[in-house]
Amino acid sequence: MNGQQLDELITKYSSILNNFDENLARRFRALFSLKGLGTDRCIEEMGKAFADSSELLKHEVAYCLGQTKSDKALEILKSCLNDMKQEPVVRHEAVEAIGAIGPPDYLALLKDLAVNDRDVEVRETSELAFDRIKFFEENPEKKHLMENRFNSVDPAPRSEETNLAKLREALMDTKLSLFERYRAMFGLRDILPIMETEEEKKECIEALLNGFNEKKSALFRHEIAFVFGQLGDVAAHGTARLAEVVDNELEHGMVRHEAAEALGNMGNEMADICLKKHRSSAAQILRESCEVALDQSEYYENNTEFQPISA
Ligand SMILES: [Fe+2]
Ligand SMILES: [Fe+2]
Repeated sequence: MNGQQLDELITKYSSILNNFDENLARRFRALFSLKGLGTDRCIEEMGKAFADSSELLKHEVAYCLGQTKSDKALEILKSCLNDMKQEPVVRHEAVEAIGAIGPPDYLALLKDLAVNDRDVEVRETSELAFDRIKFFEENPEKKHLMENRFNSVDPAPRSEETNLAKLREALMDTKLSLFERYRAMFGLRDILPIMETEEEKKECIEALLNGFNEKKSALFRHEIAFVFGQLGDVAAHGTARLAEVVDNELEHGMVRHEAAEALGNMGNEMADICLKKHRSSAAQILRESCEVALDQSEYYENNTEFQPISA
């Protein structure tokens, strides 16, 4: 692709993403296509979408900006974070994205946010982002712990522990920091494919599902759901529990949304039934998640206009 073609493509994707009247699923595809191209101009065009009214779209924009790992995205993310009119889920994702880019000169800001921010979602995420930056400052040789088969930049490196029982325990140990518990979570995610027997795989999935029993932190539960979305059909054993999370009207919208997206990646009937049931939910973030998740599974079978949406 030459420079002019690339420019035209960015213009096309941006005009879809930033058209408030456009179908949401198409806007998501345009967003992930811009993330895939990842140039400075893409980052600028993505940032314009923070003017939107869809919490779901905006939080995904913040996620995508973080995944570019580009310093260019930092100022955009910081102004989103400072905009108190943005919803807690959007501001949470902006902090997480800052953590993913990992600028050491943001440590003081993160430390302050971890204590003083208005939103618990932002406070907890800031603590995680702080610990993540510190971890790599102190252990630069451990970058390999971030490598995973999903190519995602996670809020914590996986644990070096590979013993299932120990990881299961660390995941639910409330005496540990959220960062250490996240490390166990990604450890469980990453040992799942190398488990030898079906029985062990099931145990590993059960250990992750147990994360939904976390009482204190909705952020933690939403990350568990996110991990299931990454695992997709490999973790289809968790479908019924994920559907329960989506059905639970007392659950935080951020957790229900992430569980709905995970169901979109399960590719089975039970998941689709649940998504269809909540397609017209009164909770906007859930309704929109179901719409995007259902579209996603139908769309990619025979279309190449956009790049696939990947977590
Ligand atoms: Fe999130
Ligand atoms: Fe999300």
